[in-house]
Amino acid sequence: MVNKDIVWHEASITKREYHEKNQHKSSIIWLTGLSGSGKSTIANAAARELFEQGYQVTVLDGDNVRHGLNKDLGFSDEDRKENIRRIGEVAKLFVEQGTIVITAFISPFKEDRGLVRQLVEEDEFHEVYVKCDLATCEERDPKGLYRKARNGEIPFFTGIDSPYEEPDTPELVLDTGAHNREECKNQLVQYVKDQTK
Ligand code: ADX
Repeated sequence: MVNKDIVWHEASITKREYHEKNQHKSSIIWLTGLSGSGKSTIANAAARELFEQGYQVTVLDGDNVRHGLNKDLGFSDEDRKENIRRIGEVAKLFVEQGTIVITAFISPFKEDRGLVRQLVEEDEFHEVYVKCDLATCEERDPKGLYRKARNGEIPFFTGIDSPYEEPDTPELVLDTGAHNREECKNQLVQYVKDQTK
């Protein structure tokens, strides 16, 4: 609950003014998927391309945010929930400031992703499922974490001994098991452009 003595102060620059200045709308492009599915790679490649085309865009990435803002959080269900809640609030600030924010978090729970959706207007949240089966992610194992998890060195690893809830009706699916990096990046760039016109 917010303290009743804390009163909202209207911003002097509106979201609409930022949109006019940037010549595009802002929104949250929420990538969700297993570790190793390709979220960060695609998010960064798409952001780079959009930036070069003049878009106001940024990336929030799980591993990076956990180095700073969320370094006090671990991987229990409760901590993951708080991780996503904070990211949702930060992403909302970016949207208010006219930025397209591409987020790359496992965000394993439907409920938590649903709560972020509700923080912003209906057309400002886009759930993008970065789809890749566990066997493929485990084979890629870019950070060697699946191997450690299988050895019992990392408890509560998503997909091993912590659940991942697939989105029911994501706005976009990027199938990184079936399509290469470039194709997935192009698909995401096109989607973002269409949705922020
Ligand atoms: S989330 O579940 O809370 O959304 P987040 O995306 O922030 O996770 O962080 C996931 C990253 O943390 C993974 O890409 C991986 O590098 C690292 N990591 C460390 N421990 C775990 C774990 N137990 N489960 C999943 N990822 C982990």
